[in-house]
Amino acid sequence: MTVPPLAPYPATRLRRLRQADWTRRLVRETEVRPSDLIWSMVVHEGEDAVPVASMPGVERLSVKEAAKAAVRARDLGIPAIAIFPHIDPSRKDATGSIAADPDGVIPRAVKAMKDAAPEVGIMCDVALDPFTDHGHDGVVENGRILNDATIERLIEQGLMQAAAGADILAPSDMMDGRIGRLRGALEGDGFQDTMIMSYAAKYASAFYGPYRDAIGSAKLSAGPNGQGLGDKKTYQMDPSNTEEAIREVALDIAEGADMVMVKPGLPYLDILRRLVDEFRMPTYAFQVSGEYAMIKAAGANGWIDEERAILESLAAFKRAGAAGIITYFAPWAAEKLG
Ligand code: PBG
Repeated sequence: MTVPPLAPYPATRLRRLRQADWTRRLVRETEVRPSDLIWSMVVHEGEDAVPVASMPGVERLSVKEAAKAAVRARDLGIPAIAIFPHIDPSRKDATGSIAADPDGVIPRAVKAMKDAAPEVGIMCDVALDPFTDHGHDGVVENGRILNDATIERLIEQGLMQAAAGADILAPSDMMDGRIGRLRGALEGDGFQDTMIMSYAAKYASAFYGPYRDAIGSAKLSAGPNGQGLGDKKTYQMDPSNTEEAIREVALDIAEGADMVMVKPGLPYLDILRRLVDEFRMPTYAFQVSGEYAMIKAAGANGWIDEERAILESLAAFKRAGAAGIITYFAPWAAEKLG
């Protein structure tokens, strides 16, 4: 085979379109807007804002401050806030019995936030781990997480959140069948408009570390005789799997999920892209606590340009097909991008 002679110049110069800011803006394929962001926020029963050591810049907010934050979100054009509770350890027990307490910090925060800024969507985590003394998302019996018994508790919790005014319920527990049961319970109780965003492809990840610090959830212990309770691998997904994510999401859609989520975010962009291509559902990425902490720590050390790294990470989610991003960076990013 004879190789044709090369032209004396490249036939195509891709750099032409990169030569100035205006050309780069003109050909840009994706853009992050404040409306792409869901602000991930921790609330607690105290009066003061308490800094989270492993997440510099993140504070546990009182109910009052959460209401102010909702107004700030509205002013910044952030459409929704996801709230997570920090519960005093003295109030936790083996079954997370206060998870569905209608006077708890979550329903109080939801009401205060909806009163202050009704235009902002409020999303609640449906899961038991902030309320259990063992730190698991489910009811534990003889060293096992009970699937169906856990679902009963989640339904009580979810209905309570809906009654408090939550717009989106986000089950993050990974029990089988919980989306269908929760949807049915919501319909039965007149909450037809309450949306479900399912943590559909949620992996057993090391990147949730700082979240435990943020919400003060118990350190998982292996328990007597090492009964396999030292991690969440019997319910959250194996980081090595892709096909299983497809099955998880297909089930949650069939059971009535309005939106689905991939979690963690950046290490799982392949999963995100594949789910978007496969299902064409509104699909969200959760940039989790460990991802936040890594960027902040490297930034603080001068090892990376923090601001650029944050914006680049958000752009990467959009490029991979995310309809939106749940992130602790939301207020900073919305200010920057607004
Ligand atoms: C618990 C829950 C977790 C997160 C959100 N909901 C932790 C876990 O599953 O262990 C993680 C959030 C983060 O790391 O930012 N159901």
